[in-house]
Amino acid sequence: MQTRRILERDRRLAMANEQLRELDTLKTNFFSNVSHDLGTPMTVIKAAVDNMLDGIAGAVTEKQERYLNRIKANADRLSNMIRDLLDLSRIDRGQTDLLQLNLAKIMVRDVVGETVDDFRPMVEEKGVGLRFEGTDAYAMVDREKLVRIVVNLVGNAVKFTDEGEVSVSVKPDGRGFVQTIVKDTGKGLPKEELDKIFEPFHQVKGTMGGTGLGLPIVKQFVELHGGRVWAESAGQGTGCTVTFTLPEAKS
Ligand SMILES: Nc1ncnc2c1ncn2[C@@H]1O[C@H](COP(=O)(O)OP(=O)(O)OP(=O)(O)O)[C@@H](O)[C@H]1O
Ligand SMILES: [Mg+2]
Repeated sequence: MQTRRILERDRRLAMANEQLRELDTLKTNFFSNVSHDLGTPMTVIKAAVDNMLDGIAGAVTEKQERYLNRIKANADRLSNMIRDLLDLSRIDRGQTDLLQLNLAKIMVRDVVGETVDDFRPMVEEKGVGLRFEGTDAYAMVDREKLVRIVVNLVGNAVKFTDEGEVSVSVKPDGRGFVQTIVKDTGKGLPKEELDKIFEPFHQVKGTMGGTGLGLPIVKQFVELHGGRVWAESAGQGTGCTVTFTLPEAKS
């Protein structure tokens, strides 16, 4: 009797699991198709705006140019979001080969340092400090993906910091990895959020703007390279530190 009930329960559990798996596949395919289908019209919109800005459709007044530039900037934002969704769905489906990691031996501090520099105008406008220091270390990385990792992390640090500074450092950790630490003195976050923020669309309550795709992308890209990423914060109002590692390549 007991055995029959256990067998019956196991059978139902297996069925439920099977249904969940099917649902998951459906969700991932939907995700991927929608992101892909959104990409094509966005490309057309961007090309049309570019043509108008180039004067191909006739002279453009100053006011029209302002509007067109706003369309262009937001079309770019949408394109980036679509690209992130596509990348995430590819990783979700195990199609990591489609992500085409173009690995090359790179001096990590050079790429990180250059990317950090791009934020100088933004932090100056905010009145926040920006520091960078790097020690020599090589890693086999996809340069473009490393740039996207750093843009997302430093972008967050700057976005969530109104006072103080953002500091970025690169150094070997002595255990075969190159560590990049992005530290800010901004609003910080509660301990129970530290893992959740790496899940797609998760934003800490009260966060304004953004989509919640930056950190999931960072996590996937870092892990594709064989590294790790984690966040630390002593609580709200105490700043936040995000660290990622990349396997070190010998020089
Ligand atoms: N440096 C930070 N300080 C405080 N909170 C942070 C920091 N970085 C991330 N967070 C929290 O984690 C959430 C998720 O970050 P994530 O980068 O994935 O999304 P986002 O910045 O909100 O949007 P997106 O990156 O897609 O524009 C943020 O909404 C914010 O609540
Ligand atoms: Mg972000």
